[in-house]
Amino acid sequence: VITKVKARQILDSRGIPTVEVDLHTNKGVFRASSPSGASSGLYEAVELRDGDKGTYLGKGVSRAVNNINEKISEALIGMDPTLQVQIDQAMIDLDKTDKKGELGANALLAVSMAACKAGAAEKEVSLYKHIADLAGRTTFNVPVPAFTVINGGKHAGNNLSIQDIMILPVGALRFEEALQMGSETYHHLKAVITEKYGLYGCNVGEDGGFAPNISSLKEGLDLVKEAIGRTGYNEKIKIAIDIAATEFCIGTKYDLDYKSPNKSGQNFKSGEDMIAMYKELCEAYPIVSIEDPFDKEDWEHSKYFTSLGICQVVGDDLLMSNPKRIERAMQEAACNTLLLKVNQVGTVTEAIEVVKLAKDANWGVVISQRSGESEDSFIADLSVGLSAGQIKAGAPCRGERLVKYNQLLRIEEELGDQALYAGDDWRNC
Ligand code: PGA
Ligand code: ZN
Repeated sequence: VITKVKARQILDSRGIPTVEVDLHTNKGVFRASSPSGASSGLYEAVELRDGDKGTYLGKGVSRAVNNINEKISEALIGMDPTLQVQIDQAMIDLDKTDKKGELGANALLAVSMAACKAGAAEKEVSLYKHIADLAGRTTFNVPVPAFTVINGGKHAGNNLSIQDIMILPVGALRFEEALQMGSETYHHLKAVITEKYGLYGCNVGEDGGFAPNISSLKEGLDLVKEAIGRTGYNEKIKIAIDIAATEFCIGTKYDLDYKSPNKSGQNFKSGEDMIAMYKELCEAYPIVSIEDPFDKEDWEHSKYFTSLGICQVVGDDLLMSNPKRIERAMQEAACNTLLLKVNQVGTVTEAIEVVKLAKDANWGVVISQRSGESEDSFIADLSVGLSAGQIKAGAPCRGERLVKYNQLLRIEEELGDQALYAGDDWRNC
């Protein structure tokens, strides 16, 4: 049984406070911590911050921490940690709001993940197996990683408006090989960038991707294409991009120069222009996935673009992992893949439900990091337990990103012959 729940404030990968929980049971102490995004939307669960400008510039999480130590802890002591649904429901009941704004989704999520780890230990199984049990699954797909290799948008101090360029080693036979392919490409890319832009170009953004001062997506894609060519893996590695277009949508136009200090205003594009650009890029580069190609409220262009069937269309800001928005997107076919960020939902049980919703509709599923990450590797186990098929956890570089990828190596090793690398089936595991 749960004997004690103790929270504290720690720092995330951006050096900003986040919530960490130690959940004690008769089997030991189980630790989890919440991640945090750069942009948070209206429809996602609330990240509770202190707002006291004199302390951590208002970003402290002592209220969320106190809510755990003073309220949640009392409600959970004595509960069986294997009963994830009941634990999560007890916290939701205690919070009483739709968006977990009373106690904070950052508080609920850290406790929920710690309880899940305790539940696995109680059953003496690995975390991913316990998660698979909770979801009623019996097979274990190890996801294709989407490694961020170039950062832009809100995640980097360069002029690139779009947020990430990622590589997907779909042609690997095992995750271990995918990680090697990712790492080698990353280092070849470093050399390509250094040759062109000097060492300055190799500074990295928040997810560990390089942030050379390029201003166009095409320039970034050329660098990545060159790096892939140098590895010799060629068609075994595909490219994905996260446009995060909400960040630069102005009225009905998209300002692709939004970060440029001398912007001319010449680069304003309509939704139709954006579609033409995506078509062209998908022909010229091995792009298989585009995330948030339009503003989060631009349902019309999203629908039209998805109907073209050119590539996977991922809803991140469009969906905010919110079941109502996901249902609408399904009805309208406004995208065809869920990007799940656990802290936008707030509990493990709800994360499992949302993924089920997506899988039942034959959507693809990407289990995703946040730009502000912790040392927690929970999402690695989640991605295998739910056989998501895809994981986005940043570059194959930087500790808070590698904890996820390294955990996937261990899971694959433990599973042995039972491990099925998603590979070419990355969209429908
Ligand atoms: P965020 O970005 O964590 O900063 O919201 C992640 C993403 O857009 O995929
Ligand atoms: Zn995104």
